[in-house]
Amino acid sequence: PEAITVQELANRMAEKGADLVKALFKMGMMVTVNQTIDQDTAELLVEEFGHNINRVSESDVDIDTAEDVDAPETLQTRPPVVTIMGHVDHGKTSLLDALRGTDVVRGEAGGITQHIGAYQIKTKGGELITFLDTPGHEAFTEMRQRGANVTDIVILVVAGDDGLMPQTIEAINHTKAAGVPMIVAITKADKPEFTPQKIRERLLEHEIIVEAMSGDVQDVEVSAKTGAGLDQLIEKILLQAELMELKANPDRAADATVIEAKLDKGKGPLATVLINRGTLKVGDILVVGTHSGRVRAMLDDKGRQVKTAPPSLPVEVLGIGGVPMAGDTLTVVESEVRAREVAGYRQEKATAKRTTTAPATIENMFSALK
Ligand code: GTP
Ligand code: MG
Repeated sequence: PEAITVQELANRMAEKGADLVKALFKMGMMVTVNQTIDQDTAELLVEEFGHNINRVSESDVDIDTAEDVDAPETLQTRPPVVTIMGHVDHGKTSLLDALRGTDVVRGEAGGITQHIGAYQIKTKGGELITFLDTPGHEAFTEMRQRGANVTDIVILVVAGDDGLMPQTIEAINHTKAAGVPMIVAITKADKPEFTPQKIRERLLEHEIIVEAMSGDVQDVEVSAKTGAGLDQLIEKILLQAELMELKANPDRAADATVIEAKLDKGKGPLATVLINRGTLKVGDILVVGTHSGRVRAMLDDKGRQVKTAPPSLPVEVLGIGGVPMAGDTLTVVESEVRAREVAGYRQEKATAKRTTTAPATIENMFSALK
């Protein structure tokens, strides 16, 4: 633990040194601005003044991937990550299955999506697109709140025989809040009740002006049943992706975001992750959330073992020491010692967070000091 002078701490907090001395006096400590205080006391002071606790030495015990920026010349084009959103039963999974050319719907209990699926397809032209199928918008919002913005493009699925439903509107709002471009897929085009123009008009009320209404939001009529419109949808995704110039450095230690995780009776903790940058390799030592581990094996969405995973590829990772949470970041580190150190620090921090639910008051501080 590092010591810091009261004045140095005051400078970092942009507070007056004298105010810190006063606060310390109330905490029963007589010090001058030039004296040093220990880290725990410093943290109490920071809390008291309402600043975020940012340990002086946090970089030694934790990893901040946001701080580690790749040089522009290392960046290469990566596949877009597309999230399908829309109202219950509007045909999200069916559309995704049609896009994959396979049928998972029949494998799902009652046809309802049980979890987030992540898949990558190769188009006729050889381009790769990663799709995420969400069970609801909570997952999307929760991940965004946790700073895990993995989605590049949202496909808003609206059943053309129905209308804009509550979750359609929710999806619109979440997408807007995330600042992610949207493509509207009006689906079930094969149904006699299909009235896409009605949908386009209703979308106007939510400030979504689609191409067919001379706006700039791409829209397409599709049918998961007949396959109509799928090629156009893929074209539109690729066009949008091209405009966005999505890039990542593939030649570095990987970081990835957890899409879902579970405990498998036979295999142990399993996490489906999406590679943000770098290439994840079998044997890599990693930290994910509060857990450490080593990549024992990786499976792609077709259940095939892969040795390496480049940016935008979703893979299931085996070898993590516990079950992480959706939205957690997976980071590759250089040694097991380092992995355990970071995971241990995060566990401590998580425990401390749970136990310090009460707001910082003088009484709390006294009891905390004991
Ligand atoms: P949840 O995951 O439960 O929110 O549903 P979902 O949005 O994934 O919808 P799903 O793909 O499970 O489809 C719901 C129902 O609509 C199923 O009975 C599908 O067979 C049907 N359906 C989906 N797409 C089409 C389509 O293009 N045409 C027709 N005729 N039916 C469709
Ligand atoms: Mg579904």
